Parts: sequence; C-alpha cells; structure tokens
Amino acid sequence: MSFVITTPLYYVNDKPHLGSVYTTIICDSIARYKRLVGEEVIFITGVDEHGLKIQRTANEKGVEPKTHCDEISEIFNINWKNWDISFDKFIRTSSKNHELVVNEFYKRVKGSDDIYMGVQKGWYCVGCEEFKDNPENSTTYKCPIHQKKLEWKNEENLFFRLSKYQKQIEEIINEPTFIEPIERRNEIINFVSRGLKDFSISRTNVSWGIPVPGYEHHTFYVWFDALLGYVSAISNDTNDNSLENSIKRGWPADIHLIGKDILRFHAVYWPAMLISAGMKIPKKVLGHGFLTREGQKMGKSLGNVLDPNLLLSKYGNDPVRWYLIKDISLGNDGDFQDRRFVDIINNDLANVIGNLLNRTSSMSRKWFDNKVPTNEKITTENKLENFANHAVENYINKFDIYKLDLAANEVLNLAINTNLYLNDNQPWLLIKEEKNLPLVKEIIYNVLESTRIIGLLLLPLLPELSTKIDDQLGSNYKKEVPWKNQLRWGLLISNSSLPKPTPIINKLEYE
Ligand code: MSP
Repeated sequence: MSFVITTPLYYVNDKPHLGSVYTTIICDSIARYKRLVGEEVIFITGVDEHGLKIQRTANEKGVEPKTHCDEISEIFNINWKNWDISFDKFIRTSSKNHELVVNEFYKRVKGSDDIYMGVQKGWYCVGCEEFKDNPENSTTYKCPIHQKKLEWKNEENLFFRLSKYQKQIEEIINEPTFIEPIERRNEIINFVSRGLKDFSISRTNVSWGIPVPGYEHHTFYVWFDALLGYVSAISNDTNDNSLENSIKRGWPADIHLIGKDILRFHAVYWPAMLISAGMKIPKKVLGHGFLTREGQKMGKSLGNVLDPNLLLSKYGNDPVRWYLIKDISLGNDGDFQDRRFVDIINNDLANVIGNLLNRTSSMSRKWFDNKVPTNEKITTENKLENFANHAVENYINKFDIYKLDLAANEVLNLAINTNLYLNDNQPWLLIKEEKNLPLVKEIIYNVLESTRIIGLLLLPLLPELSTKIDDQLGSNYKKEVPWKNQLRWGLLISNSSLPKPTPIINKLEYE
C-alpha cells in the first residue's frame, strides 16, 4: 500500500507565497523521509482552479479563466521544481480527468440520497469561498483572513446532507490521531458540537466550474470539486482515470497537510462526502499554523509580503528549508524574522555543522595523507557513538510523529555534541606526541563518522546540504542500501580518500 501525502491544492489567484512554500516543504520532507524508510510514496500537490474567486481574478485581468489558469498553474509547477520539491503528482482541477472523477463521485453521493435542491441564503467570503456563520453587522464585517467585506447570496443550490453524518463525524474527530495537533482537534470538536448543517454544493452564478449533470446553469461548488483533486490526482497520469482506479491505486490518503483556516473542509465536510460515496476517509489531517512576518500578518495592503522566490535566489533552498522546518513547531504559528533567519543559518548550518565538517576533514587530510584514519577503537566507551545512536533513535521517533522541528533539533544537538567532543579531546595538541597517534586516529574517525550520520539525517530535511556533506566525506551514501541501515555507527570506511574541503554553506550578512 502506498503512503499518500498531499499539500492543499493552491488557488491560482496569485503566484505561490511563503505560506504555500512552507506547507509544500514540510510535505516534501515527510515524503522524502517515508521513501528513505522504504515506503512507496505518492506525494500529491496541485492547483485549485475553479470558482468565483478565480473567475473574478481572470475577469479583472481581462482574460479567459482558462488562459489565466494555464499561466498560473505553470508558475506553480515550475516553482516547485525550482524548490526541488519531490512531488509525484501535480493535479489541475480544470483537467478533463478530474472532471470525470467529480462526476463519478457525485453520482455515488446522489445514489446515497444525499443531494437535494434548496435555497442558500447567507454571507459569503469570496476569498475563502465559504459561507460565514452570520456575523453581527455583516454589511461592514470584514473576513479576518482576507480583509474583504462579505457578500450576500440568495440562490437555489443543490445541497449535501451533511447533518445526516453528525454521529459518524463526531466519532471520527474524536479519534486522537485523526486531527493533529490537539488545539486544532478541539476547534473542530467545538464546531461539530454546535450541530452540522447541510451545505450547498452547486452554484448558479459561477460559470467557471464543472457543470452539474442534469442541472443547467449549475456548476459544482469549488470546494466540492477541489477536495476530489486528492483522489483524481492518484490516477492522473495513467490510462485509466476512473474513480475506481484512483481508489485502487492509493486511496485513502495518509496525510492531508493544511493550514488551520481550511480545517473544517478537510476534517468535517470531506470525511462526510467520502462516507456518502462509500469511500475510506483520510487517515490524518495535520493542521499547521500561520506564518507572520516580524510579528505582523503578511498581506499586500501591509506591504510586507515576503516573496519566497527572492529568498530562494538570494539564499538557496537549504537555509529557507532549515528555518521553516526547525524554527517553527508544526501546528503553531511561526514568525519570519530577517535577523533571526541570518542568525540561525549562520549558527546552525555554517558554524555548528559546516565548520565541524570543514575543520575535521582538514585535520584528517593533513595528518593522514588526505584520508579517513583507521578506526582504532582504543577507548572502551565511545561517548560519541552513544550520542549518535541516541540522536538517531530520537530523530526517528520524532519524525514518525511528524515533529519535524524536534527531529531537526536532534541533528543539531548531535553536531553540537560532536563539536564538544572534538574540543574536549583537542587532537591538535595530542598529535604533537607520536605516542598519541592511535588516539588521535580514533578521535578523528569518530568525529568524521558522526558527521557522516549528521549528513544522512539531513537527507529528508535538507537534501542539497546532505549531498554536499556526503561528497565531502568521500561519497559513502549508497542509494541501493536501506537508509536506516546506513545510520548504524562505524560504516565510514577507514583509509578512504577525503576530497579537498570546500565550504558547504556560506555565511549570511544582515541586510
Ligand atoms: N484552494 C484551497 C485549498 C483546497 S484543498 C482541496 C485554498 N487555497 S489557498 O491557496 O488559499 O491556501 C492554501 C494553503 O495556504 C492553506 O493551507 C492555507 O492555510 C495556507 N496559507 C495561506 N496563508 C498562509 C500563511 N500566511 N501562513 C501559512 N499558511 C498559510 O485554501
């Protein structure tokens, strides 16, 4: 069975922002980790192209929605390649394959007697593509996420009988592993306890959408359509794009990683829709927090939007990944601070990890003929080996429960402890006396070996840096050998050649 992980399908009203880069990087790390531990992974990302919001964006630009979507979808696709995101599927909800799956799915839900015609009245946020629980003063109220006024809607729509699934949804959301972290679960438990209301799944005023079979002028509500992108993506590039084939090839998803603002859709509406269609529900909905900039919400009106591509071209992939993965605890809100970014990269990556590798490799080359020394094993208790084994164990335990920040900290701690070991042992003094040679060999071997393990642990988190570390240690990593087996202590080959050291990470300057 495959391990299926998804990013949200991003709206194509604009190019990717730091929030979308954040989610996608986290998914990428998890996908890479799962592949390394031997799972067959289907990593899905893509774009959500239909609906009023996109229709309006295209109109404002004076182009057809399809032309607009082609352009922005391509930007997303190229963007993820630039960020070296290892996605397996890229789904566009305007594709014919997807439409086929939506129609088949709708047929199933209709067959369960879960669709009826009704009138939808209420206040709508076009930015969220969501009806809001009627706030007081709805005419002046602005959606806190989009800072835009709500619009009054009153139209005949098709409805989905969500209320019928109250009990089942309650059971699902009370499962401790279904929604994480716990704060997110509590929000949803609270919401569901107020009673689920049926929701409309069609629109009559939106032409940019998938037509509902049998109902002229009705297109599917963008969320009903978009969530199904997770399913249609699975058989996307095969010869058989049927719903059945997607189910067979990988459904249900193991993880939907999403921001906290779209939790209801994923943790309440979506499971109910799936049960109605006789399908399995996703195993986990992981809701992450929001990124702010220097403590403020990022927004065009505030003029503080951080262009992720500028970060990428200026600093490269690894620094941005490290900051987002290590400095933000998945589930909590996170703040992007320019100075903190520079400090963290300089400290963790350049000073702690980069210097460790550089200086040890230089010593080894100088004293041992450009090679790794022989592993002398003269000390009975190898402190560093114990540290490394613990770090590996903790790292795996943290990664398995998607605490990526803690896993990253395990790697950093191992590097800090390795530096301490080196400083405590001072091989540069010991080497002055011939009799100490075996001990110096042991020390340098241990440090290089620990650095090899640090590099390997970084593989799912910082793939580029990990490869650079491996290159500098003489390319020990073997793709064909299980990654976990290579985390065992002592695999660095004695007397193997060490290439000339080059800095693996550049120090950053404050702007
Ligand atoms: N199209 C829907 C998702 C459909 S999934 C079937 C959508 N798209 S979105 O482009 O508006 O948002 C995508 C993701 O970006 C959401 O998970 C949202 O939480 C996230 N973020 C938007 N702003 C964000 C930050 N400032 N910080 C972190 N993530 C944020 O919703």
